[in-house]
This record gives sequence, structure tokens and C-alpha cells, in this order.
Amino acid sequence: MGRSGDSRVRCSRKVVVFKDIDEISEFISKIWIGIARAAIEKRNRFIIAISGGSTPQRLYQDITSSKHALPWNKTHIFLVDERFVPFDSPESNYGMIREKFLNRFSIPKENIHSVPIEESCQASAQKYGLELKTFFQLQGWKLPEFDLIMLGIGEDGHTASLFPGDKAIHEKVHLACAVHLDRIKNERITLTLPVINNARNVIFLVAGKNKANIIKEILGGGDLELPAAMVKPRHGRLFFLLDSQAASLLI
Ligand code: 6PG
Repeated sequence: MGRSGDSRVRCSRKVVVFKDIDEISEFISKIWIGIARAAIEKRNRFIIAISGGSTPQRLYQDITSSKHALPWNKTHIFLVDERFVPFDSPESNYGMIREKFLNRFSIPKENIHSVPIEESCQASAQKYGLELKTFFQLQGWKLPEFDLIMLGIGEDGHTASLFPGDKAIHEKVHLACAVHLDRIKNERITLTLPVINNARNVIFLVAGKNKANIIKEILGGGDLELPAAMVKPRHGRLFFLLDSQAASLLI
């Protein structure tokens, strides 16, 4: 039993290459605003999960300085993943997001859903899972449906905190899970693939020459056990937004 749901994949994938991160950020700002407005019109709220890492930082700055007024009071922001560290640690995704993004505009406190840091990584993942269940009012095996999930990709093909070879990539029961791996510095908490693949829109934002090899592999339909290649929203849209360097090995 698990949250795999409907196994048919109706995902539409779009790959777009831009000159640089500035162009990508401008493009994503427009998509973000469009999705937010449509979601608010239909469901009276816009629910997004955002990632840490260095690549989206420029985007977060752009979004807050956008000339289009964003309906922040109807926007709910979750985190895709988090390090099991206090919020004031330089390693904390929430810490970075708060500084580069959340501190720059006014959004009701209750609209920000950071990953709670509890006494253990496991307990944090459980509490975050519960927060998702409560917020989305989920019954039984139902999955949350994010309007938009923003993801990055690591050089090894990880996305969120889903790493190649880790058991977390096969998690089907929990909405969020703890990740302990010798090769990563901190324990982490991550949304699981069933949640990511149930989103209405998923955007990968990838920049830099160091990502060219992995992008070639993922888009070439290579190793299907690579976490980023396992992101295939079941009825949502999937965007790979790349800068020219990350796309440099694509034909
Ligand atoms: C994190 C992430 C992670 C990240 C990739 C890419 O918190 O680190 O969620 O999956 O998106 O590692 O990171 P960069 O943008 O720094 O290359």
C-alpha cells in the first residue's frame, strides 16, 4: 500500500534554454505570477514549495522586486527540503530563504510553512508530514496538490534531498521523510517523490557548466534511478529551465 496513486503519467515536459540566470529568473517570475493568479482565481490560494541551493537566489530577489503586485496574503510557501540544523545556521534553507526572499515583503506569518526542527530529524519529518496533511486537509492516502514546486538539480542527479541510491527515493507512504547519508554533511528532511509528482507544475531551475553532464543524462532518458529523472508529475506540467552552460552538452 502507498501513495503511488494513479500510475499513468500524463506529464508534459518542456525544456527551455536561456542565455543566463538573469533571463531564466525573468521568465520564471512571469510563470510564477501567471500560476499564482490562476490558482487564486480558481481556489482562492496559491501554494508553492521552494528549494534552497544557490541557483534560485537571484530568482527570489527578482520575484520580490517584480513590478506586478503579488497576492502574498493568499500565497502559502512550503519548503521542498531542509537541513536538520537550527534556522540561524548558514546551512539552513529556511535561513537563506528568509534572508533573500521572505524578509523583503509582507506575508502573513501563518502562510510560511518552514520545516519544523524538532529533537530528531525523524521527528521533524513526521511533524512536517502532519503539517502537510492538516493544511491540505488530506484524508487517507490522498496527496497534497501543490500549484508549483521549484526544484534544483545537483551534479549527482539529486533533487530536493532525494539522493541517488538512497531509500528515500522509493518512499511511497510518507509525505516527508528524513534523509541520513554518510556522504552528505547534515541530515535532511525532504518532500517525497509522490508529493512532487502530484504537483500541478514543477520547475527545474538549473545553471552552470558543472551541471551540463547530468542534464545531458537526465534529458537523454539515461539512468531512471536518478532522482531528478524520476520527477514526472502525473498530471502536471514539467519545465526544465536551463542556462546555456547547463544546456551546453545537449544537441
Ligand atoms: C538544497 C536543495 C538541492 C538543490 C541542488 C542544487 O537545499 O540544497 O534543495 O536539491 O536544489 O543541490 O543546488 P544549487 O542550486 O546550489 O546548484
